[in-house]
Amino acid sequence: MQSQESAGTVATVSFPDSETSLNVPDWSLLRPGNIWSLASRYHPLPVDFKAPNIVDTQMAHGDSDRPMQVQKTIESPLKQLFAAAESDGIELMLSSAYRSVSDQEELYNSFVTKQGQAMADLYVAKPGTSEHHTGLAVDFAIASAACESDSDKCSLSVVAADWLLENAATYGFIQRYPEGKQPLTGVAFEPWHYRYVGVPMAKAISDSSLTYDEAVRQIAPGYAR
Ligand code: DAL
Ligand code: ZN
Repeated sequence: MQSQESAGTVATVSFPDSETSLNVPDWSLLRPGNIWSLASRYHPLPVDFKAPNIVDTQMAHGDSDRPMQVQKTIESPLKQLFAAAESDGIELMLSSAYRSVSDQEELYNSFVTKQGQAMADLYVAKPGTSEHHTGLAVDFAIASAACESDSDKCSLSVVAADWLLENAATYGFIQRYPEGKQPLTGVAFEPWHYRYVGVPMAKAISDSSLTYDEAVRQIAPGYAR
């Protein structure tokens, strides 16, 4: 049932198919770099955007000879998610996390060279529009020596993808580019890409079929496409 707006609520997001709703306490969560910030093909980050509190992650990751970074806010939820996966027999690794605009430029150009422009436009955000710039997005893989030495060799198993879909919201992460939602998200299905939005939003999104883009559109009509 839809809840009533209450004091300290600036908007309410409804999730019609799950008959739940979520009160938005204030607008600041949407600020670029904050946990509800929107970065998409249709909503680039500001040109002067600089991700806050970027730290070296302690999680196992690809290209292990150099640090991989995340926003500090997600380090502890990630640690809990990794531990929960491990106790269910799934050993995870990060294949990518924070990326600067120039990292993204390099990735985009190399994807175009290897796979062509059309594939790049389906799977790689243009520099300045990637959630990876916020330090709140990660790509998961299953742990392997190949991934550890070269992140281009990382991959996610179906079992791990299913586990993440079922469990990531408990730790505040959503699958950001679900299957069949490309017209809304602007990105093809990416079972590996998860984005931290905090537990209440993650649970509401994961229990419904709403994309994050649609949720933000309800929070701030006109802000998102
Ligand atoms: N793969 C996602 C869309 C990114 O490049 O941010
Ligand atoms: Zn990603």
